[in-house]
Amino acid sequence: MGKRDLLTLSELSKRELLGLLDRAQELKQIMKLGGHHRPLEGRSLAMVFEKASTRTRVSFDVGMHQLGGRALMLKRDDLQIGRGESIPDTARVLSRYVDAILIRTFQHETVEMLAQHADVPVINGLTDKTHPCQVLADLLTCQEAFGAGVLGALRVAWIGDGNNMAHSWINAAQVLGFALTLACPAGYDPDPAIVEAACAAGADVRIFRDPAEATAGCHVVNTDVWASMGQEEEAQARRTAFADFQVDAALMARARSEAIFLHCLPAHRGEEVAAEVIDGPQSRVFDEAENRLHAQKAVLEWLIGGRAPA
Ligand code: CP
Ligand code: NVA
Repeated sequence: MGKRDLLTLSELSKRELLGLLDRAQELKQIMKLGGHHRPLEGRSLAMVFEKASTRTRVSFDVGMHQLGGRALMLKRDDLQIGRGESIPDTARVLSRYVDAILIRTFQHETVEMLAQHADVPVINGLTDKTHPCQVLADLLTCQEAFGAGVLGALRVAWIGDGNNMAHSWINAAQVLGFALTLACPAGYDPDPAIVEAACAAGADVRIFRDPAEATAGCHVVNTDVWASMGQEEEAQARRTAFADFQVDAALMARARSEAIFLHCLPAHRGEEVAAEVIDGPQSRVFDEAENRLHAQKAVLEWLIGGRAPA
């Protein structure tokens, strides 16, 4: 079998996705008990970043270190791609040095091209289209809150922009079978092709205009910034379009009493989420951020270490 990459969650089987979450939970437990687990000794991860990052770069860097390997932080302008070297040549060259490549970039096609020309696994660390590694950590956080084995029975609400995070949640709903309700302002819906692919595969994914309707009775309330990286010039127009889409206490009250609030971070208090929610008792955002580390280690152990997730 050829090498595997992690470009979108929809390329994982249900068994693989649940296996990665279970392994992430085990790796978290090993770390909390002070154990050492170093299956990636002598192995390297190249991390190519064309956008800013706190969580992704630190969790992958520390994750590689804890697993016994090392990570190289390569910002676009440090590399010759900043001066026009092609993605295929960069993929071929990096493959001669490292055991896997993580990339955060703008166009999803760039990651696909890198994966196509690399001999080593490629991990999508966020594109304008998807953010699979984040949603793995989010699912781990849901599993911790509601118990192992219940993910498929959850109702998840997504409030705000139909962006890269929304797309990865739709992909996850397609693989795991939970119900996903999105509330987006007109003009900011998720990519219809991603929604249609999920629905064609039997997923229960529905789009509303009213956040209260999308949130009613859900277990998980999720949101993200109104202007993603690369959309800075649209920020003002987006503030107007999304004005009625803030997750506040009144909206949280529509969800189940045991519902949790998730946000991939960074957050803008007073815009997409009220401080009373993100800093309140239902918020799990810092557990969610921590879970990036454990989820990423499960991915690295799979793609570099060859430990099958199922
Ligand atoms: N959530 C997330 O991916 O954070 P960073 O942009 O800080 O990596
Ligand atoms: N949608 C956000 C996620 C940041 C982790 C962005 O792309 O900027």
